[in-house]
Amino acid sequence: MKDLLTDSAARSTRYLAGIRDRRVAPSPEDIARLEVLGGPLPRSVSDPAHILALLDEIGSPATVATTGGRYFGFVIGGALPASLAANWLAGAWDQNGALTVMSPVAAKVEEIVLSWVLELLGLPASCAGGFVTGTTMANFTALAACRNALLERFGWNVEEDGLFGAPPIKVVVGEEAHVSLLKALSLLGLGRSRVISVPTDKQGRIRPEALPVLDDRTLVCIQAGNVNSGAFDPAQQICTRAREAGAWVHVDGAFGLWAAVSPRYAELVDGFSLADSWAIDCHKWLNVPYDSGMAIVRKAQHLRDAMSLNAAYLPASNLREPCHYTPEASRRARGIELWAALRSLGREGLRDLIERNCHQARVCAQRFRGAGFEVLNDVVLNQVLVSFGRAEETRRVIAEVQNDGTCWCGGTQWRGHTAMRISFSSWATTDEDVERSLEAVLRIASTCKLATT
Ligand SMILES: Cc1ncc(COP(=O)(O)O)c(C=O)c1O
Repeated sequence: MKDLLTDSAARSTRYLAGIRDRRVAPSPEDIARLEVLGGPLPRSVSDPAHILALLDEIGSPATVATTGGRYFGFVIGGALPASLAANWLAGAWDQNGALTVMSPVAAKVEEIVLSWVLELLGLPASCAGGFVTGTTMANFTALAACRNALLERFGWNVEEDGLFGAPPIKVVVGEEAHVSLLKALSLLGLGRSRVISVPTDKQGRIRPEALPVLDDRTLVCIQAGNVNSGAFDPAQQICTRAREAGAWVHVDGAFGLWAAVSPRYAELVDGFSLADSWAIDCHKWLNVPYDSGMAIVRKAQHLRDAMSLNAAYLPASNLREPCHYTPEASRRARGIELWAALRSLGREGLRDLIERNCHQARVCAQRFRGAGFEVLNDVVLNQVLVSFGRAEETRRVIAEVQNDGTCWCGGTQWRGHTAMRISFSSWATTDEDVERSLEAVLRIASTCKLATT
């Protein structure tokens, strides 16, 4: 075991040491070599050292260097040193995070992290929270609590009796709601399409004057941080109206809610603390290893009612038992890396990380504008949408940038335009990475332009 883990650590550190010098996306040849990992299932036992070597030799070159500094696709963070190191130790611990009796350390660390996160986000200390795999599951988990709460008002126990014959719930979403929110609604039997979709403005923000009549059996879903533009719904207005009507407000705050940590950007999250539930990601801007997110619910009982499980062989306890707050029972102790990330960054380190990425986004937007390209969004946070002309020109630049390997940016459609999406979410992105990436994208864009003129 010792030699094997030493070898694993050496290979991992070698991988990370080379991350800045390699292509961001793997080459087609490296991807093709993954076939070597297949073949028939071996009949007999193999030496773990050979297995590790094979995985490293074939697998490492076929990774995407998301943990380096020049990956700007989707919304993807890296892994902070403290959180990665904690992840290795937690792997060795191999704790089951379901119950305190299974892992006192996992249970305690979750409690600590929950209180720190609530403080950072400016949410009441009495909120409950579940540690899940990401925002998709955080949306699902928090919305299950909402479903419980709204139907309970009408004497309906949805956990016991299901949804058949239940009083209807009105679900309101912005037309720019993230697909994962719609997926969560579908998993909960509330329906992806059975929603009232509210028009948004040109940044993707809900137009509050277009909200339907709200009442005490309405769920309103808003977002902090549009996945493309980074825009925030006007929470203050929406939450005030929802409160007056007795409606439940849920916030998909995957990456955007972390703006609360920076005094410079806190204005963006004005009013979001008035909501009833929140979903956040930790593997994005908090930069912990996958997979990690949190569902937060104002009234703890609603989350517990929706998620708790009891059986004679599960010990009764007065403690906060993690499995009463998540869909899973057995799971990895993902709070450990969160604890390490927050303990190592502190409030100031996290603020610096957020502000650095936002600054990089602004610099990037200025450079594109300066080079004559159109930036399609107001760069309020960490997201930049840029057009390189006609749709096929933009698509060509994106393909060439991905092929070039200096950095990685994806594409999207934004209000009728084809755009390159550039997301700054990694602790590892230095200003030099930004310069090197901009130089590559602008070089490719001008070559593509020359080729089409
Ligand atoms: C606003 C928003 N919500 C939800 C998600 C889904 O998060 P996850 O992939 O962690 O489930 C994302 C991912 O980018 C997002 O940006």
